[in-house]
Amino acid sequence: MLVLLGAPGAGKGTQAEILAPRLNLLHLATGDMFRAAAEQGTPIGLEAKAYMDRGELVPDDVTVRMLLERLTAPDARQGVLLDGFPRTPAQAGVLDAALAERNARVEEAILIDVPPEELVRRLSGRLVCRAEGHIYNEISKPPRVPGICDIDGSELYEREDDKVETIRARLRQQVPDLLEVCDHYRAQGKLRSVDGTRPIDEVTEELVAALTQASGSAR
Ligand code: AP5
Ligand code: MG
Repeated sequence: MLVLLGAPGAGKGTQAEILAPRLNLLHLATGDMFRAAAEQGTPIGLEAKAYMDRGELVPDDVTVRMLLERLTAPDARQGVLLDGFPRTPAQAGVLDAALAERNARVEEAILIDVPPEELVRRLSGRLVCRAEGHIYNEISKPPRVPGICDIDGSELYEREDDKVETIRARLRQQVPDLLEVCDHYRAQGKLRSVDGTRPIDEVTEELVAALTQASGSAR
């Protein structure tokens, strides 16, 4: 299991979209799972939406239950690339314990490091596709046809939590927990960091290099 860490807008989803097929891993993003649940109007989805709209983290118990249940599905056995989980030290601890029960573990946690003002710029210009959540940006990654996903032709929309006030609330409320999660993996000797300010393809190559280096040093 690999964990991609980063503040809102750092590029976790963008990189996971590219890396998961390349590494033959299942991409699991708790934010995507909450948005799908909210769209379907399930109790978890409706509860989560209230927190997401305020830029707050969804409570650990709800989040952990949903993620651990998803990890029991057969398609998670091939290996998982986690995006947006764990987000608190408590989530990181529960994940470690659940994996240990299955003789598994987080192999590496990689932080995509991007400064706050760049995060605000990126999230203000983000567009996401309705069908599969493919990620675009008005400036750094525009679609070929405005408003339409290059991959599946569905409509592009702006996420509700990408309003400037909510972006700032997300950064204010979530970055302190992110730093603690980094500490959790640093203490285990598993934390690596890549410069997330570079163009998308260069960040991908840095991530691949960090993973290759990590698997080399684990041998
Ligand atoms: P979630 O969906 O995970 O949102 P997030 O962490 O705020 O992260 P984002 O998805 O906004 O950013 P990203 O890092 O994926 O960046 P992206 O690749 O899209 O969570 C949403 C909410 O759900 C949370 O606020 C919380 O309420 C709840 N939640 C989720 N998980 C939870 C958990 N574990 N516990 C509790 N609550 C939880 O890129 C952003 C933009 O930048 C795009 O436009 C992209 O095209 C562009 N871009 C990407 N890389 C580059 C680059 N290198 N150069 C230029 N532009 C780039
Ligand atoms: Mg994302």
